Amino acid sequence: MADCRFEHITKRFGSVVAVNDFNLTIADKEFVTLVGPSGCGKSTTLNLLAGLEDPSEGLIYIDDKVVNEVPSGKRDIAMVFQSYALYPHMRVRENIGFGLKVRGMPVDEIERRVQEAAGILGIEPLLDRRPRELSGGQRQRVALGRAITRDPKIFLLDEPLSNLDAKLRTQMRADLKLLFDRLGGTVVYVTHDQAEAMTLSDRVVVMRFGVVQQVGAPLDLYDDPDNMFVAGFLGNPSMNFIECDLERQGDQLRLRTGEVRWPLPLNSSGALAAQSNDSFVLGIRPEDITVGLMDELDPNTSVPCTVHLVEHMGALNVIYTDVAEQRVVATMESAFDARTGDPARLAFKVEKIHIFDPETSQKVRF
Ligand SMILES: Nc1ncnc2c1ncn2[C@@H]1O[C@H](COP(=O)(O)OP(=O)(O)OP(=O)(O)O)[C@@H](O)[C@H]1O
Ligand SMILES: [Mg+2]
Repeated sequence: MADCRFEHITKRFGSVVAVNDFNLTIADKEFVTLVGPSGCGKSTTLNLLAGLEDPSEGLIYIDDKVVNEVPSGKRDIAMVFQSYALYPHMRVRENIGFGLKVRGMPVDEIERRVQEAAGILGIEPLLDRRPRELSGGQRQRVALGRAITRDPKIFLLDEPLSNLDAKLRTQMRADLKLLFDRLGGTVVYVTHDQAEAMTLSDRVVVMRFGVVQQVGAPLDLYDDPDNMFVAGFLGNPSMNFIECDLERQGDQLRLRTGEVRWPLPLNSSGALAAQSNDSFVLGIRPEDITVGLMDELDPNTSVPCTVHLVEHMGALNVIYTDVAEQRVVATMESAFDARTGDPARLAFKVEKIHIFDPETSQKVRF
């Protein structure tokens, strides 16, 4: 297994900058996920590491060796493509062993490795079928099997679950996690699905327009996003962003929207006072809000709202409310029976509030 490093990597396609000054060191046996919306440069970054694209600028290292000039086939990586790229005329056994055969491995060693991979992936009974006789999830396992048998330095996976239906996706996500924990390989994984990024990774790299927005452990990014993009991208339903204005009453600083004055973390005043702007965005995750009927929440620590819609999802209720003409979404496990238009109150976990500068979208740290 291996570590790898991107040093000031930029990739241009004509006038399009697909990847812009990308810097990242991936440790041996680390599972790193590149996540972001369509077109943000995830696949291009993966292809650069694979050697399928050449960088316009910068250096790529594998095990401290610059590999810019090393052809793809010599980088000792195995890639799983979104499309699986299985050979339709070959049986599963031959599909999995194909890369080894091309490399001239003896037949009995190929067979041993194919059996081993099939065992790990639970597809032994399928070895004599052809791809068209398999379900999407089974095909996906065959594509993984082909990567595993190679025993590469680095596994690269580009949206490997995106062809599956929601249920199978969740199941395969868990299977993948267990599989790579067991294999102990270095993995670079690409997805636009924030839930996959959150659940699979040791570290997540959030990208936008070819630029890295933030790198960190999933929960660190979730709890402490650097900017509004990262804050809004991770989590479902997304973090609420509430536009508000700074109000100074003597020494006291408040954030208000219309007539509503928001509760704020005690230690935020100094940071707010130091800002030059008067407009801010208050960020709060749905699970950090409690909704109650008028008499259920303390009026000193909660704000009035109007119920817009309640979605009962079984384990969770999603409650859409309006506060001073801003939509605020809350999720609660406990029952909340209210109808559209009902007056209610919202209480925030004050220590979970984030404040952003709307001009730069950066978090105001306090
Ligand atoms: N071969 C190419 N020629 C020209 N432009 C390209 C090429 N490959 C990618 N691009 C452009 O580079 C940008 C990044 O593309 P990339 O495929 O890396 O995005 P992505 O994050 O993988 O998106 P998706 O989630 O849709 O797969 C896009 O604007 C894309 O149009
Ligand atoms: Mg892509």
